[in-house]
Amino acid sequence: MDNFTYCTPTRYDFGRGVELKAGERLAQLGLKHVLVCYGMGSVVRSGLLDRVLSTLTKASVAYTLLGGIEPNPTDPKVREGIALCRTEGIDGLLAVGGGSVIDTAKAIAAGVPYPGDFWDFWAGKATVKTALPVGVVLTIPAAGSEGSGNSVITLLDGLHKISLRTDSALRPRFALLNPELTFTLPPEQTAAGIADMMAHIFERYFSPTADVEITDRVSEGVLMAIIEEAPKVMRDPTDYQARANIMWSGTLAHNGICGTGRREDWVSHFMEHEISAVYGVTHGAGLAVILPAFMTFMAQHAPRKGAQFARRVFHISEPDDTRAALLGIDALKMFFTSLGLPVTFAQLGISDPDITLLVKKLHENKGQTIGGYYPLTATETTAIYKLAL
Ligand code: NZQ
Ligand code: ZN
Repeated sequence: MDNFTYCTPTRYDFGRGVELKAGERLAQLGLKHVLVCYGMGSVVRSGLLDRVLSTLTKASVAYTLLGGIEPNPTDPKVREGIALCRTEGIDGLLAVGGGSVIDTAKAIAAGVPYPGDFWDFWAGKATVKTALPVGVVLTIPAAGSEGSGNSVITLLDGLHKISLRTDSALRPRFALLNPELTFTLPPEQTAAGIADMMAHIFERYFSPTADVEITDRVSEGVLMAIIEEAPKVMRDPTDYQARANIMWSGTLAHNGICGTGRREDWVSHFMEHEISAVYGVTHGAGLAVILPAFMTFMAQHAPRKGAQFARRVFHISEPDDTRAALLGIDALKMFFTSLGLPVTFAQLGISDPDITLLVKKLHENKGQTIGGYYPLTATETTAIYKLAL
């Protein structure tokens, strides 16, 4: 096990009605005027936004609204938010939505106190030292941004989709998680969220670090819980207990606990981000396509972790590592398919992907060699994209 620092300063309120704590939590942070960020209208239609805003009024926290944040968020909305915060004298942000809304709020939070262009952080030219505080009312368990220090934004000029990783600067100060708010999710978003949270565990599970039994077992436990609960939420979207288990899994998958003491991988995410940047697909659906391809490549080149996953999570008894890993991938694909997820580019609606372009952008954005588990150059990442055809 490697040395590590683990710091997750987010305060979580979990359960029915917790969104009504929004005003109180913001006031506790000493905030006077916040920017309330939301997406393309689901929180307006459900009445959630009004419910949350009334708690702000009650707590004497003034607000300005920034709606219309699209999935796979882009830089113009961040710039609009930064300008708004500066002119209105805003001192904090509340994100009401999913990863796209939260990531936009985080990017605005980083950009407001910074004198240069906010993209400097994503381009690796500057480090976030200070940011406005961000609170979250989560409406979709998927990206895990409610517990992560990351923010994923696409720069429209060149379609660069980049994940900025911070240790604690951009972790939300609080997150309000009411599973009932996820009842209205369309099935394809529920399923994509499940693939995404599983991917967040795999990115940490496929690690070259040895002797991390505790972190492996935590990861396998969360994966097994997801696999057990997922069919229940697909069958009955209003099953509160199943929704609750899936919601907390999404946070545990990405708040760092599954990565403690080891080197992480992140190749599947890097490869998927290029797909969603270029083709605008849902992130989790793209991952359902890339993950089996990545794992198939690894079964052929470094089967150890894939075999362990197959044996411990899917109870596959095959003694040969490569064969066990491949059987585990079959089981994973069947699971994704049972949720209605795509597992090939064609099923994702991309019949003829421009793999040359995806690989070029991937290595421009992420370097010539990528991957913490098994180093990959353009030759190997091309092979992985082809395995997803
Ligand atoms: O925009 P609205 O109208 O709100 O609709 C959204 C959107 O269409 C809808 N939705 C959300 N909650 C709903 C709902 N519809 C009905 N009822 C509800 N309760 O779902 C759609 C997807 O929303 P989005 O916020 O895009 O989902 P998600 O949480 O999957 O976020 C995806 C983004 O997060 C990034 C992804 O790359 C992508 O850009 N990621 C961020 C990470 C991070 N910050 O740590 C890590 C992840 O790996 C990921 O890369
Ligand atoms: Zn993800």
